[in-house]
Amino acid sequence: MASFVALVVLVLSIYANVCCGGVTSRFVRKLEESVDMPLHSDVFRVPPGYNAPQQYNTKYYYQVGIGHTVRTFWFNTPPPVGPDVPYTFGLIGDLGQTYDSNSTLTHYERNPSKGEAVLFVGDLSYADKYPNHDNTRWDTWGRFVERNNAYQPWIWTGG
Ligand SMILES: *[C@@H]1O[C@H](CO)[C@@H](O)[C@H](O)[C@H]1NC(C)=O
Repeated sequence: MASFVALVVLVLSIYANVCCGGVTSRFVRKLEESVDMPLHSDVFRVPPGYNAPQQYNTKYYYQVGIGHTVRTFWFNTPPPVGPDVPYTFGLIGDLGQTYDSNSTLTHYERNPSKGEAVLFVGDLSYADKYPNHDNTRWDTWGRFVERNNAYQPWIWTGG
């Protein structure tokens, strides 16, 4: 393991020298197993001010934008945790932004079992198949999926 890490560091340092990208930090996380911080640690403190308690089965409205650009969305919170609590997940992966992507999302939205949250197993926009990973294709993908993920949780993993 240590030799593998050393090899990676060596390759990266050669790559960094060739690219002349500079060094932004010499920080290296220690290799030994790390210990969880205790529950009373300062970084786990509840933020100051009013923190609304978790409400189950509640419809929340939220707004994004300023002035005349404000748009209103909503989402429902899940039921209380317990055995056999009904909750329907959709499972989507490798979505992209093709006509088939649209069929997939439409199928999910129109499914009679009405998914309440999506487990999204990556990949997302496939913008990388365009020259320079065209950022326009990230924007279009965001607008494409907003019709669903503005209104229910999407839980993401890397693809
Ligand atoms: C995508 O699907 C929706 C139905 O959910 C439809 O209204 C829309 O026209 C479709 N767009 C394209 C480009 O296929």
